[in-house]
Amino acid sequence: MTETQTLTVRDNRTGEEYELPITDGTVRASDIGKIGTGEDNPGIAIYDPGFTNTASCRSSVTYIDGDKGILEDRGYPIEQLAESSTYLEVAYLLIHGELPTKEEHEKWVHEITFHTFVHENLKSQLQGFRYDAHPMGMLMSSVGALSTFYPEARQISNEQIRHDQMVRMIAKMPTLGAWAFRHAQGKPYVYPDNELSYTANFLSMLFKMSEQKYEADPRLVKALEVLFILHADHEQNCSTNAVRSVGSSQVDPYSAVTAGIGALYGPLHGGANEAVLKMLKRIGNVSNIPAFIEGVKNGNEKLMGFGHRVYKNFDPRATIIKKAVDDVFEVTGVNPLLAIAVELEKIALADDYFVSRKLYPNVDFYSGLIYEALQVPPEMFTVMFAIPRTSGWLAQWNEFVDDKDQKIARPKQIYTGDRTLDFVPAEKRWAL
Ligand code: CMC
Repeated sequence: MTETQTLTVRDNRTGEEYELPITDGTVRASDIGKIGTGEDNPGIAIYDPGFTNTASCRSSVTYIDGDKGILEDRGYPIEQLAESSTYLEVAYLLIHGELPTKEEHEKWVHEITFHTFVHENLKSQLQGFRYDAHPMGMLMSSVGALSTFYPEARQISNEQIRHDQMVRMIAKMPTLGAWAFRHAQGKPYVYPDNELSYTANFLSMLFKMSEQKYEADPRLVKALEVLFILHADHEQNCSTNAVRSVGSSQVDPYSAVTAGIGALYGPLHGGANEAVLKMLKRIGNVSNIPAFIEGVKNGNEKLMGFGHRVYKNFDPRATIIKKAVDDVFEVTGVNPLLAIAVELEKIALADDYFVSRKLYPNVDFYSGLIYEALQVPPEMFTVMFAIPRTSGWLAQWNEFVDDKDQKIARPKQIYTGDRTLDFVPAEKRWAL
């Protein structure tokens, strides 16, 4: 039997000592909360904006070692999954915890494939958006709207119902994402082609015009498959935390995932790939890089696509993406922005500002270049992230629902405002 490890804390205000059990390298915030000076004084709380050193859950979905650049989905290295698996197999793995048998895989793919269509009323909702609506905003509201089409989704303790919603969401996300894109282009929405694979069907819904069948280049389909696998999950990032936090109110999963889409939209999270491309275009030429880097070092702006809360050595997803960039450019021809990206990376990685802060290219630094090569406009980049991340959000949400330790998310605060002021009615205040 392993001995219980403990942490001894001495409260210098009272001289009392407390022995706190250490489990899995953590102490419980509730144990810290027992350290107080008396009845009128609440116990000590943890102040941790941005949760930089707070574990919010126990999870067996995704493992990351940021210092070593390791990312594993359910124990499988991301490099192996990207090389030899498919997005739908990875989605199954994330949600079910194990790789599927042949029968399970066939059933799963069949289920997802035959839930790709959305209710026609949802199409009308999308059509109601302005011509220049951002596709992430459209995606967010249409996923939220899905909850009204499946009111049974609120029964989150029913496993079968939970399963059905997860299938529906993974299946419908490409349809909604592609339609948001077509809307901006003023083109007719393309219905799903259930004879195609998940990613090939998505490309068909994005780009099909009058041809009978849209056949994407298999190398591009494969590259998209790899990107989808890389983006499927990433443990407790901002959007996953949003999904778990909103899900903790026991709301239906469509509403919880809508919160995740909102979080992903931001430029510090999924919106970074869109920001990277805009940054590269703004730099415009390799000769402008030194001035740009100076601006970053002076704090004028950030080098988008660089840095990560967890990875402090390299982002393993960025390494895989760099290889996918080559494969895609073999089909589409080289994008001139690639030269700027490569030079930018080279200069930044040799500069002490970035080296000392352990800032390396993250997944978003190169993914935008691939999307652009696929002729996907920057506004769509975060949608391209949200579609595969849906399986991760749902795996995490599903785990959360079954976790008996979990409660409604409700952090503490340190109140810094005024107290017990006397309210003077407006007419008296303004008469003064
Ligand atoms: N360019 C310039 N300086 C940076 C950058 C950057 N991209 N990232 C961090 N720094 C600096 C930051 O100013 C700070 O400097 P100092 O110590 O002098 O104040 C130091 O590095 C530490 O940064 P931090 O903001 O404390 O780090 P964080 O862990 O809170 O933020 C991050 C992580 C990803 C939000 C941040 O690195 C960043 O904003 N990067 C650019 C946006 C980006 O590429 N986001 C995509 C993340 S990966 C995909 C995803 O999760 O969606």
